[in-house]
Amino acid sequence: MLLPLDAGDDAATITEPPVALMEEQILASWVVNAGVWTRAVRRGEILSRVRVTNGAVLQAIADCAPATLLDLGCGDAIHLANIAMVLPISRYDGVDLSPVALQLAEQNLQGLNCPVNLHTGDMLSFLESDESKYDVIFTSYAFHHLNKPEMMRFLGAAFHHLRPGGQLALVDVIRQQGQSLADYLDAFCEDMRRQWLNLSPEELDHAIRHVRDCDQPPALEELREIALQAGLDDFRAIYRKDWYQLITFGSRAL
Ligand SMILES: C[S@@+](CC[C@H](N)C(=O)[O-])C[C@H]1O[C@@H](n2cnc3c(N)ncnc32)[C@H](O)[C@@H]1O
Repeated sequence: MLLPLDAGDDAATITEPPVALMEEQILASWVVNAGVWTRAVRRGEILSRVRVTNGAVLQAIADCAPATLLDLGCGDAIHLANIAMVLPISRYDGVDLSPVALQLAEQNLQGLNCPVNLHTGDMLSFLESDESKYDVIFTSYAFHHLNKPEMMRFLGAAFHHLRPGGQLALVDVIRQQGQSLADYLDAFCEDMRRQWLNLSPEELDHAIRHVRDCDQPPALEELREIALQAGLDDFRAIYRKDWYQLITFGSRAL
């Protein structure tokens, strides 16, 4: 493994009750923030994009013959388009709540030399209703909107969509172990104010409101526990930088 392993955090318990977010709430927030996110990603201001690189994601999934790929909460798919371009992908399926984001995804994925299927809707409902199997299931920056029971459902359903040897790769923000959600949100939003420098004050306020309204990331140990209960016993915390974590999940039973 070329990438540094996560040093890990000391164990402690998170106590906030999980919040169930309405699809409309996420969608309404994303309508305001989609443009901001897209611009900030392209200007390299979202440090997770810089720190958990495409190379790291490629390295993490290289072993599982990534031929068919499902991208959950794909947004405009610009990140995955660059990764998928250098993989021997035979099929790309993307799911997102936002039709606006999926229109952009359609353009961004034009360079892929394989069938591209984009589904408008909730990724959890998709996982629980569709039967397709995939070599790689990928999700970046959408999972942290789920509450704990939804995370369990998501991981359990993802398990049933993996082909033998397949993997789920997650890139997302992760709380420090023992950090309350309120403390996490304060610290993360302070970093946004320091680092997302090219946004107008209004754009930054919208982005911060989105984070405060919609984000509830787990801590690493909490996630490992949820994954185990969902049947994903091969949990690899591959790379972490600040809030940003790349994790792969698989199962020895597959
Ligand atoms: C921050 S963007 C990330 C987009 C893309 N994955 C990326 O890494 O650039 C979050 C995306 O997740 C989508 N999303 C959030 N919750 C979702 C859900 N329950 N089902 C489907 N999409 C969801 C939003 O609509 C938005 O497009």
